[in-house]
Amino acid sequence: MKMPSHGSNPHYVYKAANLKQPETVLDFSVNVNPFGAPAIIKENWMKWFQFIEDYPDPHSAELKKELSIKEKIDENNILIGNGGAELISLVPQLFNGKNVLIIEPAFSEYEQACLAQNCHVEHHILNEGDWSLNTAELLPKVKKYQAIFLCTPNNPTGVVYDREAILQLIEEGKRHQCMIIIDEAFFDFSSENHSYSSFIEQYSNLILLRSLTKMYAIAGLRLGYLIAHPSVIAKLSMLKPHWSVNAIAMKAGMECLKQHKYVQQTRQHIDQERSRLEEFFQKSGFSYSKSKVNFYLLRDPALLEAAPLFLFLLEKGIVPRHTLNFPGLNGRWLRLAIKQTEDNNQLLEALDEWKNRR
Ligand SMILES: Cc1ncc(COP(=O)(O)O)c(C=O)c1O
Repeated sequence: MKMPSHGSNPHYVYKAANLKQPETVLDFSVNVNPFGAPAIIKENWMKWFQFIEDYPDPHSAELKKELSIKEKIDENNILIGNGGAELISLVPQLFNGKNVLIIEPAFSEYEQACLAQNCHVEHHILNEGDWSLNTAELLPKVKKYQAIFLCTPNNPTGVVYDREAILQLIEEGKRHQCMIIIDEAFFDFSSENHSYSSFIEQYSNLILLRSLTKMYAIAGLRLGYLIAHPSVIAKLSMLKPHWSVNAIAMKAGMECLKQHKYVQQTRQHIDQERSRLEEFFQKSGFSYSKSKVNFYLLRDPALLEAAPLFLFLLEKGIVPRHTLNFPGLNGRWLRLAIKQTEDNNQLLEALDEWKNRR
């Protein structure tokens, strides 16, 4: 069966698995805020209708200003995009046809975007289980590449890489004119500061990718941004389609940035639920990744690959994300989002039934 390459849109998964989709499903394959978009977006929706008639601001000036205040960086360090995905596809145009390394397992779009720019892509696969950055192996490789992609907190593991190791990597990249692209799409799900934005002026070889679609559950609206040295922003701005960010997304983004309480409550919920889930996994003999964010990897150690558990959950209307297209995981694990308590309870019930029928 040829599984879809991303989470969300569960009907594609049922079709690929040749299973009838139950009337209601719980989609654990999409890792956005389980509380949905902030209420203020719905409240303003009709007021924003007027903005669809004119062209949006191609520079997203208002939103950029707001982000620069929030991030304590200059506006010249920011480029707004139609979701992190647009920015991911833009970045490899800076090193078209060159050698690129991706620290795996990681989001599959980096490879896709680099291949579209005729880059030669290689993978640095981390040790399964703890997925920590092994600098002794990684740093000597840096000189071979013009760009290195990584994601922290990482999708699909949820693991945050060691700060000292990343700083060494950025420094080594600078020595060898190698761009270090760090995807921070999930950084705001953790209360600790895991970002590298304070290093952006110091390192012109550093690019950070951010998404607003995860924390604020506006994946259908599309909004993200990139943080880099002004020289990099200037080059990427020339490459970005002129009106790629729509007017409603920008208005929604402005409101999202004010949602401090919503962010705090989300983090608190995610932390509480993750502890509860992990306790269950330990008791029931499941393996899981040490995630710091709103999703994690799960595996039944009794299985060589996760397909039987995947199908069992699908039949119960619970949709996990397969890991067949993540180098280094190759289908052995399932990625599951942390959702609202009731939904997580249904997952636990199903996993309990799985363990007890064996
Ligand atoms: C790690 C990571 N980066 C970036 C993106 C793209 O996010 P968006 O385009 O919705 O902002 C995703 C989406 O799943 C992701 O998982």
